[in-house]
Amino acid sequence: MTPNTNNSIFTKYLRKLRHSENKVDHVKPHKDIAKNEKTEFDRFRREEYSRIDESGTVYLDYAGAALYPRSLLIKHYEFLEKHILGNPHSASSASMLSSQVELQARQGVLDYFDADSDQYMVVFTSNASAGLKLVAEAYPFGPDKALILSEDSHNSLHGMRKYASQATAQTIYYEVHDTGLKVTNATESGGHLAPSGERGLVVFTAQSNVTGIKQDLGLVEKARLAGFDTIVDIAALATTSRVSINSIKADAAVVSFYKLFGYPTGLGALIMKQKFAQKLRRPYFGGGTIETVQVPGNNVTMTEGPSRSTYKIFTSQDGTTNFLALPAVIYGLRFMDEHIDKLEVRVRTLIDFTRQALSIIRYKNGIRLVTIHGTDDAARRGGTLALTFHKSNGDDVACEKIEVLANNEKISLRSGCLCNPAMTAILLKRRNDIQTIGEHLTFSDLLEKMGVDSLGIVRISFGIASNHEDAKKFLSFAKRLATGLELD
Ligand SMILES: Cc1ncc(COP(=O)(O)O)c(C=O)c1O
Repeated sequence: MTPNTNNSIFTKYLRKLRHSENKVDHVKPHKDIAKNEKTEFDRFRREEYSRIDESGTVYLDYAGAALYPRSLLIKHYEFLEKHILGNPHSASSASMLSSQVELQARQGVLDYFDADSDQYMVVFTSNASAGLKLVAEAYPFGPDKALILSEDSHNSLHGMRKYASQATAQTIYYEVHDTGLKVTNATESGGHLAPSGERGLVVFTAQSNVTGIKQDLGLVEKARLAGFDTIVDIAALATTSRVSINSIKADAAVVSFYKLFGYPTGLGALIMKQKFAQKLRRPYFGGGTIETVQVPGNNVTMTEGPSRSTYKIFTSQDGTTNFLALPAVIYGLRFMDEHIDKLEVRVRTLIDFTRQALSIIRYKNGIRLVTIHGTDDAARRGGTLALTFHKSNGDDVACEKIEVLANNEKISLRSGCLCNPAMTAILLKRRNDIQTIGEHLTFSDLLEKMGVDSLGIVRISFGIASNHEDAKKFLSFAKRLATGLELD
């Protein structure tokens, strides 16, 4: 990522801060950790994440949230401590500094995600879900403009169907196989909607938050060429992979920054083509998005952007941007840029190692302890494993039980439906049950009707600070489960 090199006050501050980056290393190594320090990565983990080993935590929930590096907190703190930042978009120096930070953060997002600034714009949102909602509420859905989604979608994507149905648009799901790979083609599913032209909105999940399986993003371009608008949910993919929006050629993408570099929470981005933004009709405007509101009267003009004449497009979220957190986004993206390529390789190694080691753990009677869900194709896997644990008679163990046992050993993992009920049901071979079970059921009704106590899987996920020790501690935990009778 290349930050702006103009002569702004902010750039000067950044230069100074970069200079002071070398001083960040005033962390005393924990003696056991220092003893084990062997590689550049060990040093990185000690300097940036010593709290993991000092607390004895085995953190395996990077798909939930990444952990923030120490240097990011320090740089952010130092910047805030030294500068006067006011509410942006005014002429005071305090305000102008915030506006410059905002501009630089926007450019940083475009650079990091390789999105051409002549085509794409950045709307800062509170998270990925808020970006999806902004599009859903403003997209011109209609009887011939459907919403097309993967079954393997986070609930925040399913929520978009509320807006589609209000506009009498169909919501069409394309099916996902229990390998985690997509079976029906989204554009084929929606191909009957209109002979040509604009057929609706396809929302792709680039990487499953349940299985960690990466989808074929060549389909985005195919959908676009077939006349669909396209959004890519890169919330999971971007945690351990470099993403190029120019290559994917999507009309829009959504992301949450805490999933990449852990801090700050409450900030994400909707990165979208200006042309796509012009199709949107917002049902609401607020301070920050508008230039003029005629009162009394109906005229509204937008603050900035390619078309200022009407209340069609938007360039920021409503109300004041989280401007104090934006310096941390600039630093965080720079941090990611430095580490992401190595991170991708390291996570792949950890996943391969853990998959192989887990797959051979068995009870004395030969029954496997764990089913690892999803394709065996290592190239299609991100940093996540979806697991079902078994008793020694082969029956499934309630995922919640594994989370409790893991938690007793300071292993942070996740269990349940993971905000992606369809994919979880598919992995558990329950898709048909869910489809035929009726509507208006609470989760406990659903369990009762299905005659089960639990419906979910166990998820472990590696990320920016993960090392082999983390994987080995999880594997030792699993081996103990296979030798004891705790799960029977
Ligand atoms: C693939 C995917 N999409 C969307 C989301 C929603 O992200 P957020 O809750 O940050 O809005 C998540 C969160 O886990 C996710 O993993």
